[in-house]
Amino acid sequence: MHDLTIRQTTGQPMIRQGLGGRSTTNGHIATVFGCTGFLGRYVVTKLAQLGTQVVVANRDPDEARPLKVTGDLGQIIPLEFDLRNKEQIYECVRHSDIVINLIGRDYETKNFTFEDVHVEGTRAIAEAAMEAGVSRFVQVSALNASEDSPSKFLQTKAKGEKVLSEIYPEATIVRPSIMWGHEDRFLNRIGAADGWQFWVNESQTKILPVSAVDVAKAIEVIFGAESTLGKTYELYGDRAYTYEQVYELAREISLKPLPTFNIPTPIAKLVAKGMDMLPYNQMISPDLIQRMTMDDKPTPGALTFKDLYIDPTSLEADAIHFMRRFRSNAVFDLPYEKGEGQVKKGVYHIID
Ligand SMILES: NC(=O)c1ccc[n+]([C@@H]2O[C@H](COP(=O)([O-])OP(=O)(O)OC[C@H]3O[C@@H](n4cnc5c(N)ncnc54)[C@H](OP(=O)(O)O)[C@@H]3O)[C@@H](O)[C@H]2O)c1
Repeated sequence: MHDLTIRQTTGQPMIRQGLGGRSTTNGHIATVFGCTGFLGRYVVTKLAQLGTQVVVANRDPDEARPLKVTGDLGQIIPLEFDLRNKEQIYECVRHSDIVINLIGRDYETKNFTFEDVHVEGTRAIAEAAMEAGVSRFVQVSALNASEDSPSKFLQTKAKGEKVLSEIYPEATIVRPSIMWGHEDRFLNRIGAADGWQFWVNESQTKILPVSAVDVAKAIEVIFGAESTLGKTYELYGDRAYTYEQVYELAREISLKPLPTFNIPTPIAKLVAKGMDMLPYNQMISPDLIQRMTMDDKPTPGALTFKDLYIDPTSLEADAIHFMRRFRSNAVFDLPYEKGEGQVKKGVYHIID
């Protein structure tokens, strides 16, 4: 890239200064929607470390404030927006040359249905970005997204992709599987719910968990590679696990019994429906129960990590970093090296 590049779409100059890195400027301005979520902070950090100016579009300044330190002074710009306010969305994207949309929600609320968030939200952001002359759009959808899916979450994710590709045929779509990391809603739920964890489908649903850091790395590669324009990447881990196998791993690492009990899916859905009516419930919904019964099925032949030259991290090697905190003090420091038998199954019976 030259030090001065003129954006073809708007005629705006992009000026690069320095050799690259956090304290330099690469000339790009990126707007990240959904930056306050789990994946968001990793994506913002990666972009900021490249010297990108990042507009962190948020609806709560307190949530966005910690992102300030992910980049150099002046490089992280928080802007407030409402997903139904086109003018505010336009304000967030009007200086940018790339928009990354990570907005998604696992459950419906009284204010926003899945359709509002995944379809109409995507439409509003894509239209504003197109109007502002933003040249690139990256959308984070979900593995298994399909309009025929029995899950409304996955149906609306697929509809969102469709709406986006009508507005931005060159948008890049990323479909991650369930993600793990420090702030995840996967290992944290498993580790924290000692003693009252219920599961459906006899815990035999097969999933392909992926590291959130790997997904952020993939977005970083996509950000810099024009060869990814108009393509869809399915991002999943190197190994399939049943939920029971993930529990086994969690028991080995946390050195706790973590008992689970299985309940029939229709009863779980009924209970979830009741809980879904409670205010501030973010734990469970009938749609989530539905997804808990669905195997991860990557599309045959779809592009994935290897097409971005990334080796996905193994859950077995990485999970100790996130699950050690669930150990009791007595065993907190015990080493864990999967495969070398340092911690054998059953140790937890002695400790606890
Ligand atoms: N986590 C996973 O395992 C997983 C798996 C597959 C796909 N995905 C997808 O990957 C993306 C990122 O996941 P994540 O785990 O980082 O999600 P997350 O932690 O739930 O964060 C979602 C983000 O979307 C924003 N958002 C949600 N509803 C909104 C609305 N109505 N208006 C404005 N902003 C809204 C949230 O803002 P607030 O902070 O203001 O609520 C937050 O910044 C999502 O699209 C998700 O569906 C995630």
